[in-house]
Amino acid sequence: MAKKIKRYFLTDENNQKLTELNCHDSTLGPDVLDVTPLYTDTGMLTYDPGFNSTASCKSKITFVDGEKGTLLYRGYEIDDLARNSNFLEVAYLLLEGELPDKKEFSEFEYSIRTHTMLNEQLHTFFNGFRRDAHPMAIMVGVVGALSAFYNDSTDFTDRKKRIITSRRLIAKMPTIAAMAYKYSIGQPFMYPNNALGYSENFLQMMFGTPCDPYKVNPSVAKALDNILILHADHEQNASTSTVRMAGSTGANPFACIASGIASLWGPAHGGANEAVIKMLKKIGDKKNIKGFIEDVKSHKTRLMGFGHRVYKNYDPRAKVIRESAHHVLKSMGRNDPLMELAMELEAIALKDEYFIERKLYPNVDFYSGIIFKAMGIPESMYTVIFSVARTVGWIAQWTEMYGDSDSKIARPRQLYIGKTERKYKKK
Ligand code: CMC
Repeated sequence: MAKKIKRYFLTDENNQKLTELNCHDSTLGPDVLDVTPLYTDTGMLTYDPGFNSTASCKSKITFVDGEKGTLLYRGYEIDDLARNSNFLEVAYLLLEGELPDKKEFSEFEYSIRTHTMLNEQLHTFFNGFRRDAHPMAIMVGVVGALSAFYNDSTDFTDRKKRIITSRRLIAKMPTIAAMAYKYSIGQPFMYPNNALGYSENFLQMMFGTPCDPYKVNPSVAKALDNILILHADHEQNASTSTVRMAGSTGANPFACIASGIASLWGPAHGGANEAVIKMLKKIGDKKNIKGFIEDVKSHKTRLMGFGHRVYKNYDPRAKVIRESAHHVLKSMGRNDPLMELAMELEAIALKDEYFIERKLYPNVDFYSGIIFKAMGIPESMYTVIFSVARTVGWIAQWTEMYGDSDSKIARPRQLYIGKTERKYKKK
């Protein structure tokens, strides 16, 4: 028997029916009121700045329960995946919907390993940037420039083309990210070594030089792989929505991912990991926490790495990262005073009425910088690494959008509050 569709009626003040709106059932989370007939039936639009109450698409990829503080990739809990899986397996899961069997995984891994190299011509692009350019600026430029190299990927109705595009992107992101870093320190670019795993190869390209053999520290590679899993997708966040919006016009996917990188860069989004370390350094000492919290409460500044649009509970990624930060520091024999400071800051904030009332908890960015720092990764690269991981989510969401018959060009409307029509008169 067909499922009964819930209907809601919008009436005017005299109880006259204006329109009838269907409600779509979700498998998890809030059901969604379909407002598509609203404009045709009533001439009115909805107003929702920041999309607090708007579902922009249907998706089967990732689910966030903000109240409980849970995150699922294709139904699997993030904590479960972080403990038991690896980044490429998670990438396959996000892209294909199911975990790969042995054969599927080895085919996928082989394909990623053998697409890591960039067209040699792309190397010359880097010289156009200042040496002190932020690596995120370089990422936006160079990833966007990939669109000029892959003209064969213009027919996205062809599933095979979408697959090859996804794999090229996932494989080449660490190469570009490492090159952005090498450029900033004036060292030669390192070519990918396809004998290495994804995270190991990334570390080799970041920290190796042609002068000496580079030995990857397996616990650092494991921690990096873990961080990549945690950052791989997060449903319809700002950068993913940017990628979907750009993609909705039929734009080249490499250019769409470049738009996602630009969106991720902001301190309210992926740029927060770099901002957290800057904030901790500025606070400098535990004795300054109280004064800093007072500044936050009087809205002079924000506690970076805290708060989230969806999570009104502890971000499950922050829990894993906090634990992992302890592990990495221990395994590297380091004792970072910033870790102590961050823990004290967290404890004080979580007991403070301002944060309790607003349900502000640590998010994924609060402790990630501390791990990156322990790995010897410079601050300017934190958000770049986030972008390497999130490319999987962006491209999985882009692919899903292509297969969705409801998807059309994203074209929001507005509440116009400007001048009414007037005649030109020279001043
Ligand atoms: N520090 C101090 N106050 C905050 C913070 C914070 N980090 N976050 C929110 N608030 C306050 C805000 O001032 C407002 O208070 P009031 O009602 O008195 O005006 C209230 O909480 C609601 O804030 P909002 O800005 O309306 O919330 P939002 O959902 O629009 O913003 C956010 C979400 C993530 C942009 C925000 O919490 C924030 O700026 N956090 C710091 C930056 C950060 O850590 N970003 C990373 C987010 S997670 C990873 C990612 O997305 O990439």
